[in-house]
Amino acid sequence: MAPVMSVTTSSDPVTPESTATAGSASANGAVTARPGREVVFSGMQPSGGFHIGNYLGAVRDWVTLQDQHRCFYCVVDLHALTQSYDAAEMKGRVLDMAVELLACGIDPERATLFVQSEVAEHSELAWILSCVAPYGELSRMTQFKEKGERAEYVNTGLFTYPVLMAADILLYRATRVPVGEDQIQHLELTREIVRRFNNRWGELFKEPLPLHREPLRILGLDGKQKMSKSLNNYVGVGDAPEVIRKKISNAFTDETRLRKKDPGHPESCYVCGLQRFFSPEAKVAELHEGCRTARIGCVDSKRALAEAMVETLAPIGERKRQLLSQPGRVEEILHAGAEQARRVARETLAEVRERLGLLPRRP
Ligand code: TRP
Repeated sequence: MAPVMSVTTSSDPVTPESTATAGSASANGAVTARPGREVVFSGMQPSGGFHIGNYLGAVRDWVTLQDQHRCFYCVVDLHALTQSYDAAEMKGRVLDMAVELLACGIDPERATLFVQSEVAEHSELAWILSCVAPYGELSRMTQFKEKGERAEYVNTGLFTYPVLMAADILLYRATRVPVGEDQIQHLELTREIVRRFNNRWGELFKEPLPLHREPLRILGLDGKQKMSKSLNNYVGVGDAPEVIRKKISNAFTDETRLRKKDPGHPESCYVCGLQRFFSPEAKVAELHEGCRTARIGCVDSKRALAEAMVETLAPIGERKRQLLSQPGRVEEILHAGAEQARRVARETLAEVRERLGLLPRRP
């Protein structure tokens, strides 16, 4: 049987270039650049609330990075337009995602959280960068080829998706970008765009590096496919305790363990695998030993996991309820974030316009 999930944390690929202090992202005065501090940018599509796979694979790192770097976190609604969606649901999806990011610990005092379409400079820089983005390389992007094959017709936004990503990153002069493995190729393209831009219009941007955690592939409750909302095999970060208990009680365990008295194989059991993310090491060792020696059954094992998950996710749920009890609060945070982001973005764009020989824009 295939291993349930793989976790390896590779060390940061830090090159001398990337250890330099980040540029001028301190314009808003809210968070200033300190030596050794870099500018981090990351984005997430507004899929609504997210699941524990997103949390463990990305959001947890975003929260940690806030203390080390100058972070910009963006709900990338413009990227979402490249795929079909229901316009009536978009606002809800954006806000739900923002609420959960905040509930998970993204702190507007320490990081800038905003919605991409609120800062028009993203689209503007994307156009400019498209004039140095090589067509050939764009057409070789794996995600484009895959999504293009599935699409009814191929819209140009799907093609230039990575150019908008480059604009996201470069507007803030970000040098570090936490991304999943599937986005590494897009980041490579951003680096190529930087080289071509600098070559054509003079050294301005630095090549951003990935802050890459080796694939943390959290499988869905079916134990077979990647956890995903569309496959409905997920535990949501904001799920209520009853929902978590019910979902875990239906999760897959070791298929070769038919009766409780059969010894189990925690290494190849989905539920045992997940325990590592929610319980202290000693507890996990005890549970795995109990499983191996048939002292505890799969039902006990699932109960233990469900309770540990409920406990871990409870503070997130609590913060979410608190935020939702204050009408307009999340929008307020997002508008303030957009305001901060815009200040930095405008500075960058003014420099870009100058380099390109465009007329300066009136303030
Ligand atoms: N394309 C990314 C994803 O689907 C989201 C994204 C948009 C992003 N802009 C970005 C990630 C800039 C990192 C940096 O996951």
